[in-house]
Amino acid sequence: MRIFPSALLILLLLPFAWSTEPVRARRGMVVSTDVIASKVGVEVLKNGGNAVDAAVAVGFALAVTHPAAGNLGGGGFMLIRHADGRDTFLDFREMAPSSAHRDMYLAKANSGAIQSDYQGRQMQIELNESLVGWRASGVPGTVRGLELASSKYGRKPWKDLLAPAVKLAKGGFRVDYTLAESLKSSTALLGRFPESKRIFLRDGQYYDAGETLRQPELAAVLERIAEQGARDFYEGETARLLAAGMKRNGGEITLNDLKRYRAVERQPLRAEYKGYTVITAPPPSSGGVGILEMLGMLEGSGYEKGGFNAASTWHYLAEVMRRSYADRSEFLADPDFYRVPLGRLLDKGYLAARRSTIDRDKASRSEEIRPGIAPGYESMETTHFSVVDRDGNAVAVTYTLNGSYGSGVTVPGAGFLLNNEMDDFATRPGQANMFGLVQGEANKVEPGKRPLSSMTPTIVVKDGKLSMVAGAPGGGRIINAVLQALLNVIDFGMNAQQAVDAPRIHHQWMPDRLSVESGVSPDTVALLKRMGHDVVRIDTVGRLQLIVVNGEWLEGGSNSIPHGGAAGY
Ligand code: DON
Repeated sequence: MRIFPSALLILLLLPFAWSTEPVRARRGMVVSTDVIASKVGVEVLKNGGNAVDAAVAVGFALAVTHPAAGNLGGGGFMLIRHADGRDTFLDFREMAPSSAHRDMYLAKANSGAIQSDYQGRQMQIELNESLVGWRASGVPGTVRGLELASSKYGRKPWKDLLAPAVKLAKGGFRVDYTLAESLKSSTALLGRFPESKRIFLRDGQYYDAGETLRQPELAAVLERIAEQGARDFYEGETARLLAAGMKRNGGEITLNDLKRYRAVERQPLRAEYKGYTVITAPPPSSGGVGILEMLGMLEGSGYEKGGFNAASTWHYLAEVMRRSYADRSEFLADPDFYRVPLGRLLDKGYLAARRSTIDRDKASRSEEIRPGIAPGYESMETTHFSVVDRDGNAVAVTYTLNGSYGSGVTVPGAGFLLNNEMDDFATRPGQANMFGLVQGEANKVEPGKRPLSSMTPTIVVKDGKLSMVAGAPGGGRIINAVLQALLNVIDFGMNAQQAVDAPRIHHQWMPDRLSVESGVSPDTVALLKRMGHDVVRIDTVGRLQLIVVNGEWLEGGSNSIPHGGAAGY
């Protein structure tokens, strides 16, 4: 009998056999994909900066240390919740230039294909102009977004927030294995553009792990932004370099487009789930709507009764995902151009009716649910960071160049890469984009419009107190990744690292296929197949950067490679 308690303990622990400990700290925490950038944020917090200050400094630092997705030439979203309960959402998503129009990518589409290989995966990028080269970029929003955040909600001087990034760009930083491999494997894209080839591929003398990458042109841009603010980027010397490059190379963005760009403040979406308040991204993100629809269908369903990683739990989750992604394909776009039926999509009655079509034992057929989304390749290169300061202010930022290293174009003389975010529009009606998403008229290209996004920075509150800060890259899989982070903590009692390490699944309605990570066991897969799911294995559903508040402690959990993007104090 004496063996019984320990056997029981082992049984209880078994479901979390993949788990490791989170980084724990009491005062402040930054979780990003890169520990150098996370430490920059922690230093800002230690020196009296608040969570917004730290987030701004991390944003600029990642633009130096994580060139695949950290950026000046892209855009993103920042969700802020102040300790006093106020919250806001900063939309600094890229904007279509004024010359853009619905069919701008039809003429020269699909002129070939390039191969890229990242971590053993072969990916194919069609050489169409919404993905590669000068015409692929929307007007970048990051610099305006970070300036808006700092001027309105930060307390440290702007210059101080840029100083660490300037230092990293000027003095250089140590290239690690992941960056070296990522740069090498992006030769097909970066090698096409002389400035990218020179800076990031050293003209073929690839950077090796342990070497120092210095970026003097980028340092000069960051210094000007530190001195002159976002004005330099949108109206000054940097704007001129960008617009001149565009003009010389047949791009669309003009000085006037840059001058007109504004970051927009929007109201976050919110809803209750089991006594937790979930605060999340409004359109032009589709992510917040997705998360809230899925939570609405899950609440009260008892989906979790079989336990974490049980076939019955995955089945129910997959059915909820199927229904939510079907809606995504049709009803979401930039709210300044299209009336998103938010009230209808998040209506409790609608969600209950949607839930009532789920059979607990049998997979539905996507054809019978609704039309719109196709198979997806997942690029890993958007990036998310989460910050909490000692007062309990919280910031969740997801920003991106879209694809890994964006359009491949580095602005000559300015050392930063440009996004290929125009591909997030429905650029070729009826054809899937890079993430396999086929989107409708609502998301067509229009001048001054922001493309629909899946980025889902999310903050969770319980009894008026901060509980979680979450987000991830992963293209169309982001929404499901963030959903599962929330469920792992709320419904399955995991800590921050367990919650990001635990296996995840992904269903996006079309194709009618259930993707599962390797931690879902073969016998569970067999049960899912028996229920009628077409199950495929995939390597990962997003990469989460999660902070969980656990009593006095802040827990940081990160999916970053190499592990350890969390830093606290
Ligand atoms: O906004 C979006 O949904 C996409 N541009 C995000 C791209 C992404 O997550 C790529 N990497 N994981």
